[in-house]
Amino acid sequence: MRGFSYNRDMSEEVIIVKGPTALQGSVRVSGAKNSALKLMAAALLGQGASTIRNVPLISDIDIMGEVLQRLGASVVRDGHDLLVDTAPVDSCETPYELVTKMRASISVLGPLIGRFGEARVAMPGGCQIGARKIDMHLVGLEALGVKFSVDHGVLVATTPEGLRGTQVTLEFPSVGATENMLMAAVVAEGETLIENAACEPEIIDLANMLNAMGAQVSGAGTPNIGVQGVPLSDLHPCAHTTVGDRIEAGTFLTGGALTGGPVRVEGIDPSFLRMAIMKLQQMGCTVSTGEDWVSVERDPEVPLSCTDIQTLPHPGFPTDLQAQFMLLASLAEGISVITENVFENRFMFASELMRMGADITLDDHHALVRGVEGLQGAPVSSTDLRAGAALVLAGLVAEGETRVHHLEHIDRGYEDYAGKLASLGAAVVRVPA
Ligand code: UD1
Repeated sequence: MRGFSYNRDMSEEVIIVKGPTALQGSVRVSGAKNSALKLMAAALLGQGASTIRNVPLISDIDIMGEVLQRLGASVVRDGHDLLVDTAPVDSCETPYELVTKMRASISVLGPLIGRFGEARVAMPGGCQIGARKIDMHLVGLEALGVKFSVDHGVLVATTPEGLRGTQVTLEFPSVGATENMLMAAVVAEGETLIENAACEPEIIDLANMLNAMGAQVSGAGTPNIGVQGVPLSDLHPCAHTTVGDRIEAGTFLTGGALTGGPVRVEGIDPSFLRMAIMKLQQMGCTVSTGEDWVSVERDPEVPLSCTDIQTLPHPGFPTDLQAQFMLLASLAEGISVITENVFENRFMFASELMRMGADITLDDHHALVRGVEGLQGAPVSSTDLRAGAALVLAGLVAEGETRVHHLEHIDRGYEDYAGKLASLGAAVVRVPA
């Protein structure tokens, strides 16, 4: 058992890939980053010691641990179990230096309001992928009776008349807005209906944990989520296991598709990846699935086929797999059009990939990807979490050495990425720069 603090500095390390190098074998995915972060925030409502299992060893989790500690919680990690005791929480303020490191810190807003009727959260920063506003979070919470003001960069929330159930239609099925609203609505007086809610598997995971704590949430995973509010005193701590990370799974499947595989990814419900699996099949891969695994293979002598992809909220194609599939498209026969509908500015990866020989034309939120014969190894920089992971994969099929810099992005969301790729047989090492 060890204490918990955010103290990583791995910016001086690089991942070196000597290509071409194939992936083959089985790999187990970690728990979903995007679930575990919100489950940690939800623990605030339990006012006691909750255990969250299958929590990935990644830096975003460390930051959320710090956020909870600053609020007064005790957070202790034991391997992949996290013991979060929120009984001692006596502050409802989340400081600037943590919120600016990770946008998901904003997910304490809903549970803090639920628990204390007030919150002070610095306005968020996070990934450099577009404007990433929080207006929909605010609209949803306001409908529940929350009043907001901004005090020197800090968002101040109060509930002068308490929280009351309501009906809200979200303008867009925002994951973060759905979650924040859900975590406040569970203790609002009366019934809440969230229409056009996000349907991501991580929302179902959050609702399952809230229900295990005594909340009454129904319909999670569909666009209509119903919440019957309960008194805060009815909520209690619980033990909950985080679902597998579908994006980590999709990343390893992309690696298998690139090099031929077979690569089998374990610890993931295949239904979370329906659209990605369909695209892999369209591109010429053979995909097999079991209860909690997915495997991919293809004849590496036959080129991948081109396909068009547009990112959309779940169950559409996930934006968090867009870079990985842009890589596949860049080696496919023909022209693929990739349309990014979820975030602005999420094509930074393309320019790094072009330095390795890809042929990509960007036009606003469309990328025209003309398949090339091969890529060349090069020094490249992770521009964000998923781009970083995809650049390492590009190194697998590139001729020569690829050095991937700025691993702090990859460390935000992938536990032991280089180690897992090496366990699949890839010539990948992580070393001091
Ligand atoms: C979450 C995930 C992220 C994933 C994304 C979409 C976490 C920690 N992150 O991010 O990995 O890529 O879902 O699947 O779970 N928007 C607004 N106003 C709002 C809220 C969102 O304009 O109030 C916009 C955003 O700028 C973005 C789009 O809506 O363009 C989607 O955002 P959202 O679904 O909220 O994503 P996140 O919860 O931030």
